[in-house]
Amino acid sequence: MGKQLRVLIVDDSLEDIEQILCELRHGGYDPIYERVETASAMKIELEKNLWDIIISGHSMPFFSGIGALTQLNHTGLDIPFIVVSEAISGDVVVEYMKSGAYDYVRKDNLAQLVHAVERALQETEERSQRKQEEELLRMTVNKYRMLLENLPQRIFYKNKNSIYISCSENLANDLHIKPEEIFGKTDFDFYPEELADKYRKDDRRIMESGETEDIEERYIRDGQEFLIHTVKTPIKDEKGETIGILGIFWDITEKVTLQRDAERSRYLASLGELAAGVAHEINNPINGIINCAQLLANKTKEESIEKDLASRIIREGDRIANIVSSLLSFAQPNDRKEIKSKVHVNELISDTLILTKAQLNKEGIKIRLNILEELPEVYVHPQQIRQVFLNAISNARYALNQKYPETHDDKILEIISEKTVINDIPYVKVTFHDHGMGIPVDVRDKVLDPFFTTKSRHKGTGLGLSISHGIISSHGGKICIDTAEGRFTKFSILLPVESIEKTLKKETK
Ligand SMILES: Nc1ncnc2c1ncn2[C@@H]1O[C@H](COP(=O)(O)OP(=O)(O)OP(=O)(O)O)[C@@H](O)[C@H]1O
Ligand SMILES: [Mg+2]
Repeated sequence: MGKQLRVLIVDDSLEDIEQILCELRHGGYDPIYERVETASAMKIELEKNLWDIIISGHSMPFFSGIGALTQLNHTGLDIPFIVVSEAISGDVVVEYMKSGAYDYVRKDNLAQLVHAVERALQETEERSQRKQEEELLRMTVNKYRMLLENLPQRIFYKNKNSIYISCSENLANDLHIKPEEIFGKTDFDFYPEELADKYRKDDRRIMESGETEDIEERYIRDGQEFLIHTVKTPIKDEKGETIGILGIFWDITEKVTLQRDAERSRYLASLGELAAGVAHEINNPINGIINCAQLLANKTKEESIEKDLASRIIREGDRIANIVSSLLSFAQPNDRKEIKSKVHVNELISDTLILTKAQLNKEGIKIRLNILEELPEVYVHPQQIRQVFLNAISNARYALNQKYPETHDDKILEIISEKTVINDIPYVKVTFHDHGMGIPVDVRDKVLDPFFTTKSRHKGTGLGLSISHGIISSHGGKICIDTAEGRFTKFSILLPVESIEKTLKKETK
């Protein structure tokens, strides 16, 4: 049995048809066929059955080869069309071919027919396979595009030189470009040098190791800093050679901030309880020691060793008393007698400067004030806020003196007060911007922790910022630190601007 072949024959001559069938059988086919000789009959057959091939005569009493081909073209079906006829003129052959006929076989050379059929079937098969593959590819591309465009994560692909090849639409939006414009760019086109350098080093390490890495890192969008979780995967070709890196990242700023705040609160609460207990225990004996030392000092001669020892006891005793009072305020920043009042932060800045100006001048630190006069008032415990400002100035002083032990043009502390709005809440923002040493990346997360200090033993307790954090949180405010190691620190305090009524309502709840 030959290969089954479904043939639609368009011809009126039974003799011709017999010859065609005979030729096909001879060529190894088992033709299943229908014969038509009019346009309407052909239309019905094309709608009713699936055909592998159409073999048509050129001229018939009620139809023609060209008519049959035109009809086939109207259906849009991909069925090879072969004309079998007496000799016809070259122009007519050209017309057939232009209209999409597959081949023309002369009746007196019918032995060519099988060959033409074979080629036509093979080409049609290849075409249909190609179409299927293209369709599959289109569907796959659409599927991935849909996934990419709907995922909240940012996705990018870079080549092995860390040059961007493509990125998701949301990442392009962050960078204020169209997705196709990412091609050929590098991280240095979008991020500060320090950050771009870090991203590039990470890319290199991952491509060299061939291992996927999960990284928590900084990301800057529109000048604002975020924390992101990035997964970078090296991409390899068929030979196993790394050809690029695929990255996907998402914002974890809020999650991490909440986690850290919760951890810090837990830590502070437990430490606070302990500190309060110890502070009360120490307070009484230390006051006793200071009083006794004072009595001794009163009773001893000026310039005597005893007087010197007594004054030392008083000085060191005072130091202990100060630490104890810091510990207490750190434990319960709200526990003070002081009541809240409506104040202008500019006044609190100037009060704090009165206390510190002489020292700052002596150390050659220039103060630049950038004050917004018409700031709204805030409802705060003034003494607590002064304490926060005092610590900020003291930290800035220390950082400036470390960087410039002598005088220097850049030994500057700038104090800025301004208005800002975050999540629809208006705040007054005070920033202490020093051009000092900055805070190294590895200690940035720790500076708010109690007792964390990089200062030598007698220069700092490490309580300043944790107390400040407690005070500002209890006022519903925020602390933001922006810093670059070796260059600057911007320490900002944000206090909410609310009407007294609103704040009181909240407090009495
Ligand atoms: N403006 C700044 N520049 C550089 N580093 C700073 C700055 N402010 C704070 N730091 C770092 O944060 C650490 C913690 O500061 P914090 O005010 O809590 O404690 P401290 O200043 O060390 O001690 P204390 O305030 O109790 O005297 C500092 O030791 C310092 O390393
Ligand atoms: Mg300090």
